[in-house]
Amino acid sequence: MKSLRLLPSPSAFRQCTTYARGFCPPCPILVTSRRCCSSSSVTTASPSESVDDVVTPWAVEAKGPKGIDYDRVLSQFKSERIDAEMLMRLEKVIAQRHQELGRGGAPPPLHPLIRRGMVFSHRDLNVVLDSLEKKQTVYLYTGRGPSAGTMHVGHMVPFLLTKYLQDVLGCPLVIQLTDDEKFLFRDIPLGPKMDAIVQSNLKDIIAFGFDPKRTFIFRNTAYMGEMYSTVLELQRCITTNAAKNTFGFVDTDCIGKVAFPATQAAPSFVSSFRNVLPIKSHNMRCLIPCAIDQDPFFVLTRNVSDRLKRPKPALLHTKFLPALKGATHKMSSSAESNGVVLLTDDLATIQRKLRKAFSGGGGTMEDLKNNGADLDTDVAYQFVRTFSADDALVASTGEGYRAGSLTSVDVKELAAKVLWDEILSHWQVRRAAITDETVTEFTSIRDILRASPSW
Ligand code: TRP
Repeated sequence: MKSLRLLPSPSAFRQCTTYARGFCPPCPILVTSRRCCSSSSVTTASPSESVDDVVTPWAVEAKGPKGIDYDRVLSQFKSERIDAEMLMRLEKVIAQRHQELGRGGAPPPLHPLIRRGMVFSHRDLNVVLDSLEKKQTVYLYTGRGPSAGTMHVGHMVPFLLTKYLQDVLGCPLVIQLTDDEKFLFRDIPLGPKMDAIVQSNLKDIIAFGFDPKRTFIFRNTAYMGEMYSTVLELQRCITTNAAKNTFGFVDTDCIGKVAFPATQAAPSFVSSFRNVLPIKSHNMRCLIPCAIDQDPFFVLTRNVSDRLKRPKPALLHTKFLPALKGATHKMSSSAESNGVVLLTDDLATIQRKLRKAFSGGGGTMEDLKNNGADLDTDVAYQFVRTFSADDALVASTGEGYRAGSLTSVDVKELAAKVLWDEILSHWQVRRAAITDETVTEFTSIRDILRASPSW
């Protein structure tokens, strides 16, 4: 009952004038903000005046240059921090799976995104690890809203994590493309334009190197028949009130928006994949790697799981990659001006874009020498830390830059080189080799469990 007091009443949503169409992202309980509807600044606050960070599926904005306060997100979202103990347990389970899969050599280390805290929060990861220890099959589920033709490097983070997890755990994987979401929320017409975006996104996703035998990718408008019964079961359990309180929907929103969360929730249950993950029981667990802004969908899903007698999906949450202009914004394709590095950019373009990136290196060379760089706000350093597999390089860059012996120009050059050499050049080679036939392979309805090792 206590948390209910934090909820604004539906009329409070209607009073909000901060956001154009009456939708007020800061209001729902899952947002780390006290301003706007629930405060007296309701009619005057603008997004840039926010007192606190905003993290919702439709808006991510930090109040300060250091970016989102993830400690605060953890406490507001009531998710669990990935601590040292959890990392050790994960490493152990990965080593166990390595043996079970009959792979030789040393077990793989934890992915740098996990080791360096880019994957920072979870729900029920311990339960998934229990299942894996008992050799039970767990499947992975992630997704993408196909809103722009070309993906950018901010989109890579959850996909790099998912690819790693599929590799080391040998799990089947389903990937949802929410063309329905982008039609309802972003007004992209369903037709040739959306088809082209989806086709291009499919190739972009496949180019992360997912295993074709164990991966099924689907777009909602095409696959809905197969999962509709699960969507319906969810729709019957999720009240309009719950959807409003979680997402800030208002009475003037179309009913498509209000119903959409059931569509994103459905793949969390194996019953959505009768022909793709053909098992009789409902108890195969699902692990969802996603950026933290997607969490509200799955909190709603987890809240109704017991009633549907299904296992609650577990979650692994990633942080956002900062935009080139600085960490107040996540990298976003709908805000082109914040600066995005596209997956299709060549080395020269990446270098040019990174040269303009927000720097934590202080004003003048003198300042830098005296004070050192602020690594938390420095976008180029954050790129090195996110994308380099080389721990020694990350450590020496951090030390040198903080001490003032490396300049921000050096670190920007390094960031461009790391992003290109370690990630994008390989991704682009794979992307160029993907044909329409490859897409048909990944999107055809087929049993992907058969290829997964029987445990
Ligand atoms: N709503 C997500 C987006 O706009 C796409 C998505 C669908 C997703 N299902 C998901 C993301 C599961 C992560 C996990 O990008």
